[in-house]
Amino acid sequence: MGIRARSILVMGVLGFLAIAVIGITSYQLSIKNAMDEAKIKSNIILNYAMATKKYMKLVQKPLVKELIEADRFYPELMSGFVSARGTFELFQESYPGYIFKQATIDPLNPANKASKEEQVLIDHFRRDPSLISSEGQLTKNGEEVFYFAQPIKVDSKSCLRCHGNVNDAPKDQIEIYGAEAGYNWKMNDTVAAFVIYIPTAAAITAAKKLSLTLVLIGAGGIILILLVIWFFLDRSVVLPIVQLARRTEDFSLGENLDAPIESGSTGEIGALAQAIERLRISLIKLLK
Ligand code: HEC
Repeated sequence: MGIRARSILVMGVLGFLAIAVIGITSYQLSIKNAMDEAKIKSNIILNYAMATKKYMKLVQKPLVKELIEADRFYPELMSGFVSARGTFELFQESYPGYIFKQATIDPLNPANKASKEEQVLIDHFRRDPSLISSEGQLTKNGEEVFYFAQPIKVDSKSCLRCHGNVNDAPKDQIEIYGAEAGYNWKMNDTVAAFVIYIPTAAAITAAKKLSLTLVLIGAGGIILILLVIWFFLDRSVVLPIVQLARRTEDFSLGENLDAPIESGSTGEIGALAQAIERLRISLIKLLK
C-alpha cells in the first residue's frame, strides 16, 4: 500500500471514530438535557397543583364552611384533591399528553385508581419511608414519558374522617362516591402518590435528529479533508518521489546522466533531490 493510501486510511479511520464519539456523546447529552427539562416541567406542574390545593384548603374551604350547613360536604368546593384533579383536567385541554394523577391504591374516585406501574411506585414509597420522590422514564400508552412522583401519606387524623370508617364519612360523600372503596385507610400509611407524566417523544426525536445532523456534517467535513490531503500528498510527496525514483533508475542504467535534476520541492524531498543531483555529478566525474 502506498503512502497516500496508508495515510488516508489511518486518517479516515481516526476521523470516523471521532465522528462516532461526537455522535454518541451529543445524543446522550441531548437526551440528558431533555430529561432535565422534563424534570423542571414536572416540578413546576406539581408545585402549581399543590398551590391550588393549598388555596382551596386555606382560603376557599373556611369561607364555604361559613356559608353552608355544618354537615354538608361539596367536594368541588371543599376538597383540594378534587380541585387539583379538576383544574388539571382543564389544563390538559391545552397540554394533552401531560398527566397529573393522585394515583391511589384504594380510591374514592375510580379516576384516581393507581395503574400497575403506579402501584409498584407506591409500594416502593411504602417500603422506604425516607424516599421523598422518585423519577424515571417509561412507556405509557405507547408514548415515551418522564415521570416524577411524590408519596401521599395519611399524615393527619382529619383525613380519616372521610377516608377512615365509612360511618364517620360525610353523607354527601357517600352519596357521590359510594361506600365500597376509598375507606379504612390507616394513620401514617402511604396510600397514594402524586405522579406527573411529561411527554418526551418529541425531545427524543429532536435529540436523534441533532446527533444525526452532527454526524452527517462531520462525515462530510472529514471526506472533504481526506480529499484535500489526498491531493496534497499526491502533488508534494508521491509525484516528486516517483520522478526521483525514475531518474535514479535511469542513472543506474547509465542513461539520461546529462540532464540535471530540477526539483521545486523543499524539506525532505528537496534534500533527497539535491543528494541525487550530487550523486549524478559524482557519477559523471567517476565515469570520466
Ligand atoms: C372532608 C372529606 C375529606 C377529607 C378530610 C380528606 N379527603 Fe381525601 N378525598 C375526599 C374526596 C371526596 C376525594 C375524591 C376526589 C376526587 O373525586 O378526585 C378525595 C380524594 C383523595 C385522594 C385521591 C384518591 C381518591 O380517594 O379518589 C387522596 C390520595 C386523598 N383524598 C388523600 C387525603 C389525605 C391524605 C387527607 C388528609 C390530609 C384527605 N384526603 C382528607 C375527601 C376528603
